[in-house]
Amino acid sequence: MHDDDRPTGAFPYERLRRFPDVEAPNLQAWDATDLLLADRGTADAVQRGLTGREIAVIGDNYGAISLRLAAAGFVGVRVHQDLATGREAFRRNAEELGLEDLQIPSELERGLLDGARLVLLQLPRGLAELEEYADAVARWAAPDVVLVAGGRVKHMTLAMNDVLGKAFEVVEAELAVRKSRLLVASVPRPVPERPPFPVRAAHADVGLVLYAHGGAFAGPRLDLGTRFLLGFLDRMPAGEAVDLGCGTGALAAGYALAHPDAVVVATDRSAAAVRSARETVAANGLEGRVRVEHDDAGALLPEASADVVLLNPPFHLGASVHAGGALRLIEAAARILRPGGELWTVYNSHLDYRRQLRTVVGRTSVEGQSGKFTVTRSVRRP
Ligand SMILES: C[S@@+](CC[C@H](N)C(=O)[O-])C[C@H]1O[C@@H](n2cnc3c(N)ncnc32)[C@H](O)[C@@H]1O
Repeated sequence: MHDDDRPTGAFPYERLRRFPDVEAPNLQAWDATDLLLADRGTADAVQRGLTGREIAVIGDNYGAISLRLAAAGFVGVRVHQDLATGREAFRRNAEELGLEDLQIPSELERGLLDGARLVLLQLPRGLAELEEYADAVARWAAPDVVLVAGGRVKHMTLAMNDVLGKAFEVVEAELAVRKSRLLVASVPRPVPERPPFPVRAAHADVGLVLYAHGGAFAGPRLDLGTRFLLGFLDRMPAGEAVDLGCGTGALAAGYALAHPDAVVVATDRSAAAVRSARETVAANGLEGRVRVEHDDAGALLPEASADVVLLNPPFHLGASVHAGGALRLIEAAARILRPGGELWTVYNSHLDYRRQLRTVVGRTSVEGQSGKFTVTRSVRRP
């Protein structure tokens, strides 16, 4: 039996789906932490006599927490999810369960947390992302807010308590239940005048300024693979370009600066990346030339519409090393490129995506290799 399986009460968790996110027999749309947060959230809300409008959920992956609250009668719960895939899965799950229009999807801004007295949070992996959430709760929620943050014990570190402790006077760790644990934070500390995010860094050697929100890949640093691919910009054709999985927007901004007549679309499934890339675009004076979209694998972009696609693919899917995420973006590149258009990819040399690139996109040549990274050019077959 899967260790997350247990009687789940009246709520039909088994009807929740991850689609359009990757689905597989060993991947389900809720975990033990969702159950713990939903149980705890419902009990706390009942005990304190809270209404749905006083509850916010952050990181509700596929909707398990807020849909369970809606099913229990809490209407108007505000929900934030970072991933475009999670937002779409949540929308579909709500519709399937007849619970649509009962929650308020929100970006990470004041409106998500204003007046909230209970915030339920699926702990993110990164401490910077946690710090941004903790600051937002301390900054915008009600003074008597209780932040209940949960995670899988194997992914939790004591540094998470310290990050929460910077924003809250009281942080208590509860006993683990079914390999998940809750951290409960209360009594918000006074916040600094300026929020800690986005963080800015100037990279004079490549002529770029990067902005990063907590959840963005590599933060304001320039990833080594990204830096390597930037060295090939002048060998790429000028035209309509797409930065697929743009993160903070380094490739999109670099390409636009190198090709002053080009038009660029940068797209990422993470809202934190999208916000960061928009700020990077503005900081480099590229507004009007680089558009940033929040979507999954460039799904909003028309077929055969790009001359160039830039790709530094992910190789982690959640906790497991998995090439599925990269393959999804390679397939997206093939769809978006015009025949004869070029996909420029950088990857860790040991992953060797050449075969997939050749099969899915077309003729693929190695354009450069550093110690750790390979850059390839794939020409979209007609
Ligand atoms: C290795 S990072 C590269 C970021 C940026 N291009 C750079 O070079 O710094 C991969 C990025 O792809 C994004 N990503 C992963 N899967 C995606 C998908 N299905 N659709 C859109 N973006 C995705 C991640 O959110 C992440 O920002």
